[in-house]
Amino acid sequence: MVGIGLIGSGFMGKCHALAWTSVRAVFGDAPEVRLVHLGEANTALADTRAREFGFARASGDWRAVVDDPDVDIVSITAPNRFHAEMAIAALEAGKHVWCEKPMAPEFAAAERMAAAAQASGKVAALGYNYVQSPSIRHIGALLAEGAIGAVNHLRIEMDEDFMADPDAPFFWKHEASSGYGALDDFAVHPLSLIETLFGRVARVMCDMAMPYPERRTAEGGRRAVETYDVASTLLRLENGVSGTLLANRSAWGRKGRLQLQIFGSKGSIVFDQERFNELKLYVTSDRPTEQGYRTILSSPHHEPYGSFVPAPGHGLGFNDLKTIECREVLARIEGRQARLIDFASGLEIERTVHAMARSFREGRWVDVRQERPRNG
Ligand SMILES: NC(=O)c1ccc[n+]([C@@H]2O[C@H](COP(=O)([O-])OP(=O)(O)OC[C@H]3O[C@@H](n4cnc5c(N)ncnc54)[C@H](O)[C@@H]3O)[C@@H](O)[C@H]2O)c1
Repeated sequence: MVGIGLIGSGFMGKCHALAWTSVRAVFGDAPEVRLVHLGEANTALADTRAREFGFARASGDWRAVVDDPDVDIVSITAPNRFHAEMAIAALEAGKHVWCEKPMAPEFAAAERMAAAAQASGKVAALGYNYVQSPSIRHIGALLAEGAIGAVNHLRIEMDEDFMADPDAPFFWKHEASSGYGALDDFAVHPLSLIETLFGRVARVMCDMAMPYPERRTAEGGRRAVETYDVASTLLRLENGVSGTLLANRSAWGRKGRLQLQIFGSKGSIVFDQERFNELKLYVTSDRPTEQGYRTILSSPHHEPYGSFVPAPGHGLGFNDLKTIECREVLARIEGRQARLIDFASGLEIERTVHAMARSFREGRWVDVRQERPRNG
């Protein structure tokens, strides 16, 4: 029996709770889990959410979760600025950690998280759920078998419209303490796909924009926005592949777009998270009269789709990606092979993000390897 602690119970907190609740039913090989302790910003909210999600104990102080002897794994889903302190405390208390992305707004803090993970010997995983999708896994298999030949260019775009309304109020994602903005919120996800499918980024050239520099506050005043909603980056990967990564949190009409286009010498692949139960494949080996993108619907042939639904084309949902990620966390803890972005590979994503920000500040290409903590 594995004891679960959950810190934060908002959007992602609920996703983690659902994943912990369903992981064993979906994947019969997962161990039994017990929802032990939920921590929130205050006791009343903790009590309410613990009742709703099925946790045995609740606390208005996250440290009680970390210190709970019955907790083996801590899910961290609080805002970005708390990740480092919470994750390091949990690792030092001997717990495994499953922390939401990004690692931390400051690169030095992300480095401390990676060092704490290494010193602890515990599993320290990040919430890069998009790498878990059966379609993305299949794209990895197609690339490995050379289905589209040698890859020479990729384009990734991540867009949503949750900040598109100029009248939407100021909240924590507009504060510099949450990071740079679109880079930490969005660009890290495409970078997790790049890390998983292609390897490391070598050089970046980035521009950022702030469409709405001021927002109204809940109290009726105005406040200057400290983060950038838009980031546009040219990339060069260590394997020589060129690419672009575009991210926009103020893109009206885009709800959960994470589009990946991969161009190779013998074809191309197109994927969009808004339609993540399908991918499009173009191969030059088709007869010229029939050349064109074919749409491949997810099915039990695409692991681990079949663990959720036996019927092809019926589709998974966003929360299912979290359940797959949860199974991978448990597999890694059991010493089995697992597909995860852990704190060590997550640190390389953070290094790339900070190189992007430096590129924007200094108006030049930046070598990712040379990126060091701003305050380190
Ligand atoms: N993997 C993904 O696809 C994905 C998607 C959205 C958000 N995220 C990440 O998840 C994290 C949370 O984002 P969210 O959208 O769920 O935010 P949210 O605002 O919906 O939830 C955050 C929760 O943390 C709680 N909280 C705040 N301070 C706390 C404290 N000191 N102790 C305990 N709880 C505290 C809040 O009360 C709230 O319930 C962020 O780091 C974000 O980047 C990941």
